[in-house]
Amino acid sequence: MTVTIREARESDADAVSRICLLTAKGGQSADDLHDFKELPGLTYAVPYVKLPTTLGFVLIDDKNSGPGEGEVVGYTLASRNSREFDRYAAEHWWPILAEKYPPSLAQKPADKEFMELFRNMHGKSEARVSFGAANMHINLLEPYQRQGWGSKLVSRMVEALRKEDPDGGVTLGMDPRNLAVRRFYEKFGFESFEGGKFNELGLKFSKAKVLHCSDSASAKAYIEVHRTF
Ligand SMILES: CC(C)(COP(=O)(O)OP(=O)(O)OC[C@H]1O[C@@H](n2cnc3c(N)ncnc32)[C@H](O)[C@@H]1OP(=O)(O)O)[C@@H](O)C(=O)NCCC(=O)NCCS
Repeated sequence: MTVTIREARESDADAVSRICLLTAKGGQSADDLHDFKELPGLTYAVPYVKLPTTLGFVLIDDKNSGPGEGEVVGYTLASRNSREFDRYAAEHWWPILAEKYPPSLAQKPADKEFMELFRNMHGKSEARVSFGAANMHINLLEPYQRQGWGSKLVSRMVEALRKEDPDGGVTLGMDPRNLAVRRFYEKFGFESFEGGKFNELGLKFSKAKVLHCSDSASAKAYIEVHRTF
């Protein structure tokens, strides 16, 4: 088994949507909450491989198959420009979903919540956008967690965003049921920012901390990843 990282593509849409569902309940599977299992992904993952201003990296397990034929088992996805992303999505993404998913279709409360959100999607706050133009998400399937892969994905994303906008920054929102994950982000220098909500964090690229691998398994994997690029 070899695990590697590559850039995300539009054709990863189904895979990132599934991962989103399987981590959408405070980091755990939200499968039981939804009849419409695509809704979390259509909100938090799929637009980031389809809409303008976006970029991403996916974690691939080759499952002993041929090169490039592995399974997507994790992702980090971002928009370089939250304002532009929100503007574009308000015109071209949420209205289509609002039409396709009227709240009357929902039997489960979580489905209803998403369907109502599509009709009234909020953009990123002024405080968030003025701290950093970019925003990002990250999720890994459970068997791939706590092996250093999340750190490598965040490093790749921060490196890519920083290259384009060295003086800028990136923000993210944590699920209020999953605030313990703050410890993970703090390792990179993410912190609360002025005017941000209790579950929002931001990182100025000029203050980003570099993470080092702490064990040999991760170090080996790290070398593999960097050989691929
Ligand atoms: C959160 C997540 C992206 C972290 O990636 P990862 O590959 O598991 O993390 P790493 O192995 O790189 O972790 C580095 C360190 O961050 C900290 N950390 C990682 N996940 C954490 C969590 N859920 N809560 C608190 N600290 C965490 C730990 O200190 C960890 O070091 P340790 O394993 O030696 O204790 C991943 O676990 C995940 O996808 N979880 C489920 C979905 C989720 O919570 N997504 C975040 C949405 S805001």
